[in-house]
Amino acid sequence: MRIILFGGPGAGKGTQASAICSKLGIPSVSTGNIIREAIAAGTPAGVEFKKYTEKGELVPDSLVIEMLKDRIARPDCANGYILDGFPRSIPQAEALDEMGVEIDAVVSLEVSDEEIEKRMTGRRVCPKCGESYHLVFNPPKTEMICDKCGEALIQRSDDKAETVRERLRVYHSQTEPAKAYYEKKGKLRKVDGNGNVEAITALIFKALGI
Ligand code: AP5
Ligand code: MG
Repeated sequence: MRIILFGGPGAGKGTQASAICSKLGIPSVSTGNIIREAIAAGTPAGVEFKKYTEKGELVPDSLVIEMLKDRIARPDCANGYILDGFPRSIPQAEALDEMGVEIDAVVSLEVSDEEIEKRMTGRRVCPKCGESYHLVFNPPKTEMICDKCGEALIQRSDDKAETVRERLRVYHSQTEPAKAYYEKKGKLRKVDGNGNVEAITALIFKALGI
């Protein structure tokens, strides 16, 4: 299956992508995680990406589209994948079509801006595998240690209150229009993303018929 997980910043895309991956045995492709890895490695692309991410803006379409194309061409994507955080604009959605990628479903996690602000302040992430936790709502088994790979958790630099507000603004103006693009194609499945993590996972599985 090829699935798009759509939703605002902090809607729970990364958290739910992890549950869907375990169930279906396909990889999750998070453009946000790939961008953060490049920034951490200090590659020339990473230096360029940082100018945008630290302000809460989108990285230019041309750069992200190329990156995504390379990633989904890898052998682990041969039997399907989950796209977390891509597409994030109409040109990115059109680029997927131009690549000949057939999407089975677009799951949109619907979460209020107020809830998103609460989630972002408590988020902690694994710098190694990208797994997301929340100090209160979804804590790791051992304090500040990743359940999956044992790495010490960190706070993301774009989770500051003012950057979160800018990311929300960018989501509503540039990313949300892509939802209508998939609604017209009959691929959109809206899921209420306001409950607890397990309840939302169950709603997503139901929406996907898995
Ligand atoms: P990206 O990393 O994709 O950031 P984002 O879309 O802002 O989304 P987040 O990763 O912040 O949130 P999430 O939805 O994954 O939520 P999570 O599961 O962590 O992108 C970062 C930046 O990279 C962008 O700003 C942009 O600059 C650039 N970029 C990336 N892709 C791009 C693209 N395609 N084009 C251009 N630029 C691009 O959950 C959030 C928190 O809530 C966690 O603490 C979690 O534990 C908690 N939580 C999750 N579910 C629940 C629940 N049900 N109840 C309570 N708490 C919950
Ligand atoms: Mg994420």
